Amino acid sequence: MAVLPGSSDDAIAQAARELAAGELVAFPTETVYGLGARADQDAAVARIFAAKGRPADHPLIVHVADVGGAQAFAREWPAHAQRLAEAFWPGPLTVIVPRRDGVATGAAGGQASIGLRCPAHPVARALLARAAALGVPGLAAPSANCFGRISPTRAEHVREEFGETLTILDGGDCEMGIESAIVDCTRSKPALLRPGVLAREAIEAALGTALRAPGGDAPRASGTLEAHYAPRAKLRLMDAKMLRTAVEILPKSRVNPVAVYFRTIAPPRGVRAVRAMPDNPAAAAHGLFADLRELDATGASLIWVEAPPDAPEWEGVRDRLQRAAAA
Ligand code: TXA
Ligand code: MG
Repeated sequence: MAVLPGSSDDAIAQAARELAAGELVAFPTETVYGLGARADQDAAVARIFAAKGRPADHPLIVHVADVGGAQAFAREWPAHAQRLAEAFWPGPLTVIVPRRDGVATGAAGGQASIGLRCPAHPVARALLARAAALGVPGLAAPSANCFGRISPTRAEHVREEFGETLTILDGGDCEMGIESAIVDCTRSKPALLRPGVLAREAIEAALGTALRAPGGDAPRASGTLEAHYAPRAKLRLMDAKMLRTAVEILPKSRVNPVAVYFRTIAPPRGVRAVRAMPDNPAAAAHGLFADLRELDATGASLIWVEAPPDAPEWEGVRDRLQRAAAA
């Protein structure tokens, strides 16, 4: 079996050896599972792009053990990055900083900048430490899904994406459930490139300044592509009233090819599958990708989703659903 228990020292040691040898290993983080390769070898990183079917000019996030590890990849370490690291590392936040020349060029997709994150998950941390002892300075790791598809929050999701041959460290369900917030610290005013579970207000409080909107010059990045995180079924976002009406006018004579992800309306009947989104934004983020995968696996051709509230704490969930609907 390629799925190894993340709680086992032997499994971590084996995974670290494979990474040091330039192979791919999937591992859990507190956000989603990552598909890792040693960040300092472009040939190893190229395997990530090949496995995911991801364009080679889309930069990857490099995972490090601490600020010192991050600085090995950075040409300079901006004050904004330092503030964010102090407030949120280890944790679900990625900083974009100027990249040190000649370092992790492949992982950065050729950009002059690099995305760095220090994960909190104990399995990820143990793996980083073991790999570091074998000379690996950091792990490039995008979400462990094929390009454009739903990110994995369980080891079995990773196996569904890549099959039995990949070594996967199983760390159970990812706690946060959506990818890290990404803050561009390469310019004097920081920008939120991708919302996560950390509220924008908390990030601004740590920075001591407002986040600017990402400009048109933001580097190309699949996590920020309009159409991403897509199930096979066509996903549509509707407000409660529209969703209730849409369900009411479905033909009652047969089971319809519709799956419904509802929040406040009564659980619909006569559809292929239903699932309830939790009221609480952290719980909703935690279950979002697993629920979408399950609804998709019912063979429904449409997934109707009741739109989350337009409140700041729902920004990350709203963002992922909007991108899924745009696909
Ligand atoms: O939570 C996460 O961040 C997960 C886990 C595995 O850590 N990783 C993740 O990686 O979401 P990935 O590759 O799916 O998302 C990487 C995104 C890119 O699509 C892009 O939006 C941004 O990070 N990114 C990375 N490097 C960048 C750079 N130099 N400039 C701008 N954006 C960058
Ligand atoms: Mg991704």
